[in-house]
Amino acid sequence: MTSNKNPSLSDRNLALELVRVTEAAALAASVWIGRGDKNSADGAAVGAMRKAFNAVAINGLVVIGEGEMDEAPMLFIGERVGAGGPEMDIAVDPLEGTVTTAKGAPNAIAVIALAERGNFLHAPDIYMDKIAVGPGLPEGVVMLDAPVAENLRNLARAKKCDIADLMVCTLERERHAEIIAKCREAGARISLIGDGDVSGVIAVSQPEAGIDLYIGSGGAPEGVLAAAALRCIGGQMQGRLLYEDATQIERTRGMGIADPNKIYTVEEMARGNVMFAATGVTSGPMLRGVRRFGTGAITYSTVMRSKSGTVRYIEAHHNFETKTWVTS
Ligand code: FBP
Repeated sequence: MTSNKNPSLSDRNLALELVRVTEAAALAASVWIGRGDKNSADGAAVGAMRKAFNAVAINGLVVIGEGEMDEAPMLFIGERVGAGGPEMDIAVDPLEGTVTTAKGAPNAIAVIALAERGNFLHAPDIYMDKIAVGPGLPEGVVMLDAPVAENLRNLARAKKCDIADLMVCTLERERHAEIIAKCREAGARISLIGDGDVSGVIAVSQPEAGIDLYIGSGGAPEGVLAAAALRCIGGQMQGRLLYEDATQIERTRGMGIADPNKIYTVEEMARGNVMFAATGVTSGPMLRGVRRFGTGAITYSTVMRSKSGTVRYIEAHHNFETKTWVTS
């Protein structure tokens, strides 16, 4: 008989348990797709994810969550979750793409990453400057502080292609006007996304997504979640926290970050054995969204582990007549 005490077995089982948690959040959020109410969509995902954690055999500490304790009723930073077991750090975004979900637009996901205690960067809920490329490229082929044209030149050389063959992904935001102009000037193509830079960054390591470079600023918590996925599937990323005022710098120092201007690599944001799981809420390049029908729904998820590097895609058919807790 196989024992559950085998650490690698429990690791593997845990990774699959995580998918149940992201599925629960995605199913709950899917009720709110296109209904113009981002707060209800987010609240539903948070509540369902929090409840699903009660069945996971870990001693979890939320280090990336819905905000500080006084800002979030559930899944706040510092909250303990799980049914008991190994000490783990948890990074969550129960609904990555709240506006997207409210609009019924593409690319919303429910996402979780797990690592042994003390292995995730405790990023505050501020912005982060990000740059990322896929695996198999020379270390430092693109650098956060290098000019856009130089990064594109170096990347094209490393990929043995022309700059015109490169596809850059960034969030469509006013603050990215200069990056977008510089990419176009250098001759690269750009894919502008409305929201969801966790999957935007991950796309650089998914050859089928056709993205060569991710660049631009977005949420710092989202940066750590994306780094967790890259730990599992390979790829390079650099991130540096961005501050709007002195209070944010103080808050960052208070979270144990001594050098507020440090540039973090993937390994510095997500160390040790890392697991990552996500379920699509609305369809995007990474995952299809929840399909609901009268008596159930279909969800599409991915789960990955840094230890094995295996990426699994899971299609689950949920029956609401038997799985009554989903609809209650
Ligand atoms: P939310 O789910 O919190 O709305 O985040 C969506 C998102 O697009 C993230 O993927 C990204 O990191 C961040 O917002 C960018 O922030 P902003 O919309 O302020 O540019």
